[in-house]
Amino acid sequence: MNLYHTRVNLQLDPAIISTVKELVRTKGTISKYYHFNIELIDRLVDDHPDILTRKYGVHGTSTHQAGDTNLPHYDTSRQTALNFSVNDCGEGASTLFYRALPGSTKVTMEGLTPGIEWGKVVYGPVQTVDTLTLCDNQCVLINTDELHAVRNYARPNRIVLSIDCKVSYKEAYDYFAGLGLIEVDVLDSDRSLF
Ligand SMILES: [Fe+2]
Repeated sequence: MNLYHTRVNLQLDPAIISTVKELVRTKGTISKYYHFNIELIDRLVDDHPDILTRKYGVHGTSTHQAGDTNLPHYDTSRQTALNFSVNDCGEGASTLFYRALPGSTKVTMEGLTPGIEWGKVVYGPVQTVDTLTLCDNQCVLINTDELHAVRNYARPNRIVLSIDCKVSYKEAYDYFAGLGLIEVDVLDSDRSLF
């Protein structure tokens, strides 16, 4: 088991993809994170009621975009995310996972709602420990309890739909493995940390 990320064999309904793309088009930006309600996504969430929440967002990253969410950080509002590619995913935009090194500092970050913490950003020395490139038509489970950041150098219109999980990464992994939906990478076998 990879400690940081795992491919899940789930596909987004094409109707969800076009709905999310339309939402991004009408909002006029993909560089914001926001929550919204789409009945189609609620139905997907309802297929896995013990694992997924009705809290989901569209993550758009621009190339070389600066900002707190692209600095190494821990999500504190969720332990695990189920991410689906929506548009322009692939080589050139990756999620990096890190280990914080001595001398680094953790800073609590608030989101759009004052007083509500979304995560902790780490400033200072870190070491990259793994890299994930989400490609088109893929779904991946991400351990957002681990230090991570998105680095986008080549995908100006990258859009990802991210559904919050209500359980730990290991619990979500075991759940999807039990359904036969985990695609095990041979290279992952030597990274078993559980
Ligand atoms: Fe994050």
